[in-house]
Parts: sequence; C-alpha cells; structure tokens
Amino acid sequence: MKQTDSHIEVDFINEGSTVGELHPEKSWPREDSSRVPLWVYTDHENYRRELERVFYGPHWHMVGLESEIPNPGDFVRAVIGERSVIVTKTENEEISVLLNSCAHRGVEISQAAHGTQKEIMCPYHQWTYDLKGNLIGVPFKRGVKGKGGFPEDFDTKNHGLRRLKVENVNGCIFATFDHDAPNMREYLGKGNYEYFTRIFNGRKTKVLGHQRQRIKGNWKLYMENIKDPYHASLLHVFLISFGLYRIDQQGVTVTDERTLAHNVFASIRNPAGDTSGTEDMKSYRKDLKLNDMSLVTAAKEFEDEVSIQIQTVFPDLVLQQQGNSLQLRYVIPLGPDEFELQWTYFGYEDDSEEMTLRRLRQANLTGPSGYVSVDDTEVLEYSGAGIRPNPSKVAILELGGRGGEAPDDGNMVTEGPIRGFYEYYRRVMYGDS
Ligand SMILES: [Fe+2]
Repeated sequence: MKQTDSHIEVDFINEGSTVGELHPEKSWPREDSSRVPLWVYTDHENYRRELERVFYGPHWHMVGLESEIPNPGDFVRAVIGERSVIVTKTENEEISVLLNSCAHRGVEISQAAHGTQKEIMCPYHQWTYDLKGNLIGVPFKRGVKGKGGFPEDFDTKNHGLRRLKVENVNGCIFATFDHDAPNMREYLGKGNYEYFTRIFNGRKTKVLGHQRQRIKGNWKLYMENIKDPYHASLLHVFLISFGLYRIDQQGVTVTDERTLAHNVFASIRNPAGDTSGTEDMKSYRKDLKLNDMSLVTAAKEFEDEVSIQIQTVFPDLVLQQQGNSLQLRYVIPLGPDEFELQWTYFGYEDDSEEMTLRRLRQANLTGPSGYVSVDDTEVLEYSGAGIRPNPSKVAILELGGRGGEAPDDGNMVTEGPIRGFYEYYRRVMYGDS
C-alpha cells in the first residue's frame, strides 16, 4: 500500500495472478477499515479474486456434519465458493472430500444432494473412482478388439479426483483446497475454538431439517450482518415488540486475535417476558404480548447460562444457538450480486422428544421466513439494491472506534468485528501471495 495526500491506494498489481489485475482506481479510502468502498460488493474482478484467494485459498469451509453420512458410501454434496464437492464416508470409515469434477473432461459427476454409492461414476464416459477418489475404471482403456485405447504409459494412478484436506472437529467436517492450511484449532484461535466446541462438544448430532434461500446482495453483507449484533435492537421488531432482546444484556465478544476474522457473541437473555429496559425503544409495544411463550422459552442444556451464541467462521460459516434452537448457515456466493444461504437445523442424537420439539418450535425465529431472520433477508436485499448502482460510494464503520479488535468490556454496540473482518480480508486479497 502507498500513501497519497488524500487516501491510501492499494497496489493491486500482482504478476502471475490467475485472476487478472484490478483497476488501480479501485482503492480503499483509509488505511484502517473504518471505510469500505462499495465496489468490493459489486466488482467482478474483485469477486474472481475472492474465489481464488478466500474460498480456494488457505481457509477452512464446513461441508457437513458426520451424522449426515453415518455409513460407508453415504455422501452429501456441498459447495465451496462456486465449486461443488462430494463429502463421503469411505469403506474404512474415513471421510473424503472430493472435487465434484471428473478428471477426464471436467464433468460435474454428482447432481444429487445426498445418497449412498459404492463407487463414484461419471455419467458421461463412465470414468469410475473409489470413495477416496482413486480412478479405478476407464472404459476402452485397451481399446476395442486390440484397436485404439490409451497410450501404454497412461497411468490411472495419476488421474484421481482432486482431494481436499479434511479435518473432523467433533463431528463437523471441514475441508480446504490448501493442504498447507493450519489445523482447525490454530485456524479458529483459542476462544473461538472453545465456543465452537461448546456446542459441538462430542455429543453425536442429529439433523432436524434444512432450509435454503437466495438473497440478492453480496455474500460479505451476510457475514457483516452476523458480526453486528446491535442491529438486532433496531431492526428486529419481533424481538423488540415482545421485550426479548436488550442491547445491555450481559454478553461477551471474542475475536480471533490471529486473524480478527472469526468471532463469537455469547449472551445471556433476560427472562422471556421481562421487558424492563426495553420500554424506551421505538418498536416496543406495551400492548402486545406473546400468547405462547414456548416459542421463546428455552430449557437449560449447557453448563453455562449462555442462551444466545452466534459465531462466524471466516469466510462462509455461521453457527448459532438461539435458546434451544441450534443451526448452521452456509454462505455460498453466486457472483458478486447474489448468494445462497443454506440452513441446517440440528440437535443431539440422545435428545428427548420434548427437546426436539422445543428446538423445532424455537427454529421459527430463524430461516428464510423466520420471525427474526426475515428482517435480515429483506434489509440485505435493500443493501444490494442501494449498493449495486453506487459502487463509488463508501460505507462508514466507526461505531466503537476504528480498529478491528473486539471490545473487552462486553459492549455489543460496535462495528469492530466487521472492521476486523476487512482487516484480514484486505491482507488476503491484496497482500503478496
Ligand atoms: Fe439480524
């Protein structure tokens, strides 16, 4: 980066880059990340670079729960960036994550979202792989009746499916294209690893359901939304109307010190129905009350008193505990202007039926049409609509300072974690690599 009189210019020239050069006019207004130029949400070259450096670079992506593939041959399909992968359990109970693109002609092999198979066969020319991705069968390898076939030195060992590096964190399957990526404990940092394994604590999980939605806006806006807890006290009328959220409720924010890119908010909700402290908020309605409090009344199930945990794992995962509702959200970019959000609701294998019902009932607050999350969908579409035609504008992120560190006083009225995200993002995107 080099300083000019009025702003900082980022040096985008990166010879040997596979994604081309970014236009030099595309600069960041300040050295700190208290300003975000809106072209980072709209620019196609920048988006191609994100795919290479963020999604296919040294970062981990959750691709499923082990409980989704309990038996050898079971598989689920997942998406990292724009690349489809097959997540499968092998005969010897290992997990392999394979690029869903045939080594022959690049064909996407599997279209099913999940299933069971003994081997992986491309539908086009039937190149066939074992569950570890080794090529085990090629039609007409020796030709027909002694004619044709592959050259003598064609070795199937050299033509398997691309394998990703895999780590299993207490039943959560993570994968990365970069085999030099640090292990998950180092990747997440101590505090974020501890909170992640607070929910994934070794108990076997049970998937309760999936939801999907598409949102017309840039994928980063979703991660920002999760890193900004104070919007809940302004935007989410369901929470405010019924006195279910207070910005001053006891909480903690933990940002990974190595990257500033992952962070977690954990807080203890005021008892359902206790509206003290909410009365002066604009959307609070004294005349409204929930008839069925079971929608929001959580049963204690963890050792601590935390009733809301919401965690972002860079670049594309959200883990949330909302009372007894447990959810994963996978963020899948579809170009700079749209993303898919995949929700997986889960509980534990040994849950009582009553607890499963409680989890399902409380899941009504989230998802594409959730009483709370529907507001985020709506406002992120407004963000997309306002940003797309105005890429030369700049966003302001000064609440709580200009640095990317998490406040250590539990204050949730801050944009610090969003600045932290961009501090790391800029290093990854425009640093030497
Ligand atoms: Fe929200």
